[in-house]
Amino acid sequence: MTAPQSGVALAVEGLSIRFGGLLAVEDLTFEVMEGEVLSLIGPNGAGKTSAFNAITGYIEPAAGEVLYRGKRLTGLKPNQIAELGVVRTFQKTSVFSGRTVLDNILMGLHLRSKQHPLAIILGLPAVAREEKTLKQEAWRILEFTGLRPRADEMAGSLPYGELRLLEVAIALAANPKLLLLDEPVSGMNPTETTDFMKTLARIRDLGITVLLVEHDMKMVMGVSDRVVVLNQGRIIANGPPAAIQLDSEVIRAYLGERYARAEG
Ligand SMILES: Nc1ncnc2c1ncn2[C@@H]1O[C@H](COP(=O)(O)OP(=O)(O)OP(=O)(O)O)[C@@H](O)[C@H]1O
Ligand SMILES: [Mg+2]
Repeated sequence: MTAPQSGVALAVEGLSIRFGGLLAVEDLTFEVMEGEVLSLIGPNGAGKTSAFNAITGYIEPAAGEVLYRGKRLTGLKPNQIAELGVVRTFQKTSVFSGRTVLDNILMGLHLRSKQHPLAIILGLPAVAREEKTLKQEAWRILEFTGLRPRADEMAGSLPYGELRLLEVAIALAANPKLLLLDEPVSGMNPTETTDFMKTLARIRDLGITVLLVEHDMKMVMGVSDRVVVLNQGRIIANGPPAAIQLDSEVIRAYLGERYARAEG
């Protein structure tokens, strides 16, 4: 066990993930510092989403452990991990397409309600007061993400880019201290992507630490303090974006492949 270190938000230590005979992630070790934006990149199938799933309690690793502010996450359930402030997006299930955008945020906020279920059923005054506070908070999140004009529209009717934004808004409603984003701009057009980069900068200004999985290199290089590169389940590079761009193994394993694909 590692003692809590000041400055380290997330510590991933010797994490291995196995699917039957496939070792999808092998001995993954890295740290995310408080307040930084760290990107985890790598070719398709490198193990990025699997690592997210293990960090947030959706799958059990074959070996290793994950600590958040020194507390062991491994073995906890996803909701227990979220309660500690470690929140992920890309849970499609968290968007209720038959409810309005505002309702989706309110439901996210209710998950962290302090009220006893019975008090809610009885409609006690404290509940009404909290309800008002939650509504104000929901409007703040809508304003923050730029979704305010969409508040009364059905989530299911949103264009794809805004649906992705709603997923982030719902994650924000869960009051994250560490936010894990799995390809947040995939499917967004260039304008939406540029806007999202600005939103991400403001999320970081709120003091929220970000662990980002992303294929969009312009975005990765633009928003990251540090980049960790995975290839076939193993880390091949870890450093500032400028150094990663020049790393020959990275170029060969990842950028080379993508450029080759883009050209071909
Ligand atoms: N539930 C599963 N069962 C079996 N194999 C899986 C499972 N999930 C992932 N894998 C395999 O594990 C490896 C890593 O997959 P993962 O989804 O973590 O990659 P990724 O880096 O997120 O890729 P992408 O960039 O395409 O999203 C792949 O070979 C994948 O086929
Ligand atoms: Mg993935």
